[in-house]
Order: sequence, then C-alpha cells, then structure tokens
Amino acid sequence: MMAEETEAFPTWPAFDGNEEASLVRVLKSGKWGRANGGAVAAFEAAFAAKTGAKHCLAVANGTSALITALGVLDIGPGDEVIVPPYTFIATVNAVLRFHAVPIFVDVDAKTLQMDASKLEAQITPRTKAIIMVHMAGGVGELGKVLEIGKRRGIPVIEDAAQAHLAEWEGKHVGTHGTMGCFSFQASKNLNSGEGGALLTNDDALAEKAYAFHNNSRGRTQPGEDFKYRMTGANLRLTEFQGALLTAQMGRIEEQARKRTENAKRLDAALAKTPGLTPMGVGKGCTRHAYHLYMFRYEAAKYGGKARDAFMKEMGVPVSSGYVPLEEEPFLENAFSSRGYEFAYGKNYFAKWKKRNDCPVNRKACAETLWFTQNLLLSGPRAMARLERAVLALKS
Ligand SMILES: Cc1ncc(COP(=O)(O)O)c(C=O)c1O
Repeated sequence: MMAEETEAFPTWPAFDGNEEASLVRVLKSGKWGRANGGAVAAFEAAFAAKTGAKHCLAVANGTSALITALGVLDIGPGDEVIVPPYTFIATVNAVLRFHAVPIFVDVDAKTLQMDASKLEAQITPRTKAIIMVHMAGGVGELGKVLEIGKRRGIPVIEDAAQAHLAEWEGKHVGTHGTMGCFSFQASKNLNSGEGGALLTNDDALAEKAYAFHNNSRGRTQPGEDFKYRMTGANLRLTEFQGALLTAQMGRIEEQARKRTENAKRLDAALAKTPGLTPMGVGKGCTRHAYHLYMFRYEAAKYGGKARDAFMKEMGVPVSSGYVPLEEEPFLENAFSSRGYEFAYGKNYFAKWKKRNDCPVNRKACAETLWFTQNLLLSGPRAMARLERAVLALKS
C-alpha cells in the first residue's frame, strides 16, 4: 500500500508541553476560579486584542454566551428573536430559555447562511433581536443584516461559535453586531473542552453581561458586592480553561492558515467534480474560519444514489450535518409547555408553523456534506486522500 493511502487524518485537539505547563501552573497556584485568579482575565484580554473587540467576557460555553447576550437585552415572553434554521440547536435553545419565540429566516442556498433578502418579511413589532450565525466559519450577507437591524432599531447578535478568526470586510466577526458569541467546546477551532466568550464594544452591555454571568454580581466597589440590580446565573469559566485557551491561542493563526490552504485544494478538486459544489460566502467575507468544509451533493448527477451510500463510497470521514430544526419535535413540545401556554395560549405551535416554513433549509439538510476542521489540518498525503475521495466519485 502506498504511504499516502495510510497517512492518518489529524486528531483533535493539538497540544504540547505548553498547554500542560499552563494547566499545572493553575493547579499549583490553588486559584482555580476567576474570582481569585488571573488566567481567565488574561485570556479575555488576549482574545479582545486578537479580535479587536473593546470587551471580551469569557463564559462557561457558547450556549451561555448566547444566553448572556439575550439576558442583557432583557429578552422575555412575548418577544421574537430571528434565527436561521441551518444552525446547531443551541442557537434556538438559548431563545427558548427566555420563553421568547424563535422566528426562522430561511437560508441562502449557495451559502447556507441566513438569507438577508428574506429578513424584513419576518420582522414584526415583537422582534427584539436578530441572531446571525456564521455557519461553518463562513460569513453570509452580514452587511445587509446589520443595515436592516440598524434601520429597524433591532440589535444583531453574531453567533460566531464556529467562526474564530473569520472576518467580514477585514474585521473580525463578533465585533460587527451589538454582541458576538463564541464557543470553545471540544470540537471548535479554539478549544478548552467547554468554554465560550461574548464580545462587545458597548461599555454598558459589557458591565451588564459581567453581572449576568456572575449571578447578578457586577464589578462593584468594595462594600457593594451584594447589591443586586438584575437577575443572572453562574456562567463563569474556570481558570484551567482560561489558561488552556491562552496556550491554544498560540496555535490558531498557523492552524487557520493550513485550513485555508487545504480548503483551496478541495475547492479545486470539487471544481472538477460535477454534482459536488462547495458552499460559498457573502461578498464581504474576507476570511473563512473553516470550522467545517461544507459542500452540496446532488444525487440526480449520480443516478439518484442516496447520500448515505455516496458517503460510504467516499471512504473518508464525512458527515451529513444538520436536520431541519424547524421540523424537529422539540419546538412543538416547547410551545405546548406550561410556560409557553401561559404566555401565548394554547395551540401556538400551529400559528408559529405557518410563519416558519424553510424550504431551502429542508433541501440543504438533505444534500449537504461536511468535512470537519481537523481534516483540513491534514498533511499533503492525507489531503490527497480527501481529494481522491471527491475526484474518484466524478459523476
Ligand atoms: C452555531 C453554534 N451556536 C452555538 C453553539 C453552542 O456552543 P456550546 O456547545 O459551546 O454551548 C454551537 C456549538 O456547537 C454552535 O455550533
């Protein structure tokens, strides 16, 4: 067997003695929580500097970042929050935690990002926030979404859980909207097992976010520690995770460069393969984070072969990605729970469903394939395996 056929795909995460030393340093310090240590604060400063955000607040995970963002905007029952349907369920779960209503704006077929041309039709006087997800680390028509948000007086939250280092018009994602939310969960391009961050350039929101994630306790003057002004939760990151993230930050530029280089190789291979098309990005996307390499499989070009069978034939790790969220039973179940019935009355789901059909998403979920980011860190021989997997399946 040739060497290139046996070269393994990279495992994830990547680490060395640097990560180990940073964890041991925290361990030996005995300062394991952010209240008495400095590792979380040091990471926040580093991530703010890297992204160009005025404020960075580290939180327990990406879901917590979204919950904090919605919490500081005082989202509650009766409010609508616009989301795209092609996303991880956490984007929608964060909205449901507040007994608010997720309203879907269908995705664009070429990018799988929110279709900005369909956004205004879904806005009502109840719309209190728009969550623009930077799916897979690409960026869609963020400019149009921001323009609509500004004109209609609706804050835009960027869900950048998959988009570390992605840029729109030369500026990091997460810094364009009112707030930006990141995840450092184990699969993510920046990883501390679990973890998250919220970015904002707004001083007042930053203060409020700190208090929200710290069980209502803001950065108060001595003696004011227990004067509570708002509700909150404990969504704090530990010092171990803060230290790990700072160590991992030392690798992200090099890893991102490699993913981009390998994604270009895949683009070139797919360009020669009818029936397989890489997902595009919006015009203003100047840097893709490639958390996922997403491409579309058109069964009709392969004699109607089912996607699962096609994936098997590829012989490399490939995923079929998300299911249509708007059709999953969790929404009907949520809307028939006591809290929702109290706020919206009985049979709210039926009304909701009429407004939330997403045919483009449905088709996309049936046709999309993903390569995960670790595959894009492959050396030349493992990359050749991926290229051959798509080229050999030419229709
Ligand atoms: C788009 C998106 N939003 C939110 C999240 C939630 O992040 P976490 O898993 O860190 O809570 C994820 C993570 O998978 C995600 O992919």
